[in-house]
Amino acid sequence: MSKRHPIIAGNWKMNKIVREAQDYAIKLLGRIGNVTDVDVVVCAPFTALSTLKDELEESIIHIGAQDLFWVASGAFTGEISAEMLVDIACTYVIIGHSERREILKETDEDIAKKIKAALKAGLTPILCVGENLAQREEGRALAIVRGQVQKDLADLPSEDLKRVVIAYEPLWAIGTGKTSSSQDAQDMCEAIRTTLAGIAGTVADEVNILYGGSVKADNIAELMVQPDIDGALVGGASLDADGFAQLIENA
Ligand code: G3P
Repeated sequence: MSKRHPIIAGNWKMNKIVREAQDYAIKLLGRIGNVTDVDVVVCAPFTALSTLKDELEESIIHIGAQDLFWVASGAFTGEISAEMLVDIACTYVIIGHSERREILKETDEDIAKKIKAALKAGLTPILCVGENLAQREEGRALAIVRGQVQKDLADLPSEDLKRVVIAYEPLWAIGTGKTSSSQDAQDMCEAIRTTLAGIAGTVADEVNILYGGSVKADNIAELMVQPDIDGALVGGASLDADGFAQLIENA
């Protein structure tokens, strides 16, 4: 099976006001104009890049969001629906990031509903899974990640499952500078693909699996040569347009 089309996604988290986001996007467009063999996703806080949808439309840069609510509309103060994200030109959405699981106590049940809502609206969900340091040190990393994949993608039909992007992000590597070794990252991504195969058979070979956790311009290349790693979900190193452009070029 040839590798899947690579995706390099930037998760800005709660950073950048709209003007900064717009200046960033114009700069990034100028830096990666000649790159064609990758999809770049920029997940800014809501609406920040939507005003540039015309400029971005012909480029490899896709607008992403960092979360959604699973109901289309109603009395859910502060929430935004998949349909609203589509309306502001989003095509990808991060779901189940560890910061939302840990800080906002999102459950696998919530996440499964969010995945279904994203797919129904035509968005590509980027499902984040990963173990914490204690779970890794106790030898439970595989079991934890397998369980997240099975619960979060429960009873999805195969044609939907292959539209899901999965990001393996060990919590102990997020924001720490401690990147997983490329071999360990490969082993975990291979285990995710094997878990998917148990759910949906050969469709598993079509699913993009990304690695996230202290990805930088100087370590992306060794990750990208791994057979089951199809891209990266980048936090801190995506915040600077020049640095993110260099990371994309190195991928
Ligand atoms: O979603 C990506 C993020 O959690 C990774 O952050 O700063 O370790 O690249 P960072």
